[in-house]
Amino acid sequence: MIQTINLVKTFPNSKNPVLKSINLKIENGEFVSLVGRSGSGKSTLLYIISTLDRATSGDVFYDKHNVTEIPKEEIYTLRNKNIGFVFQFHYLIQELSAAENVLLPARKARELEKRRPLAMQLLKEVGLEGLENRYPSELSGGEQQRVAIARALIMEPTYIFADEPTGNLDSINGLMIIELFEKINKEKGTTIIYVTHDKEFAAKARRQITLVDGTLS
Ligand SMILES: Nc1ncnc2c1ncn2[C@@H]1O[C@H](COP(=O)(O)OP(=O)(O)OP(=O)(O)O)[C@@H](O)[C@H]1O
Ligand SMILES: [Mg+2]
Repeated sequence: MIQTINLVKTFPNSKNPVLKSINLKIENGEFVSLVGRSGSGKSTLLYIISTLDRATSGDVFYDKHNVTEIPKEEIYTLRNKNIGFVFQFHYLIQELSAAENVLLPARKARELEKRRPLAMQLLKEVGLEGLENRYPSELSGGEQQRVAIARALIMEPTYIFADEPTGNLDSINGLMIIELFEKINKEKGTTIIYVTHDKEFAAKARRQITLVDGTLS
């Protein structure tokens, strides 16, 4: 379970909070979409609940653990093992092939060989079969985004946070990603929270959360 209590985020260079006392509870195994206008605070909220950024005040709980009180080193372990991210602006390593990029978290966890078959399967599931050995510069923007999605799934995390995972994709490939999330959620009970601007994709979630100007509506 993830729970936020009175979460407030104010960036140093502005006086108005971007998130205004967010109280949100997400049970294990939920499939949630996060929607709202550009600038409403979706990425900010996703970064804070996924432990990548810290709130100005308020708390984030993972089950009984208050994330703000967990030492930094333990947070890194929590992340690599339990949390998968898809960023709005994906960061692939240019010197590594698609498959090597997907396997990077596995390499860090010393599970490279163990996870190689899953990497191939995930690349196939995101529609990149045959492109495993291409470098990012040899892939289209949408193909690179799908590599980043496969990378987020390689450790079979308990939680997946995805910031506009379908942002660079056409509707068919976008739907393929949302359906892959749906399948992983059903089969593995993974908690999935994704941001989207697409009404149809948002409706695929079992629960929709809407942010309006930093407040849950
Ligand atoms: N590092 C930062 N410093 C100052 N202001 C920021 C920073 N990051 C975001 N903001 C501001 O916080 C607000 C929310 O930004 P956020 O990125 O969370 O919006 P969003 O809902 O994800 O928008 P989009 O749909 O365009 O991605 C915006 O007004 C933005 O300008
Ligand atoms: Mg955003």
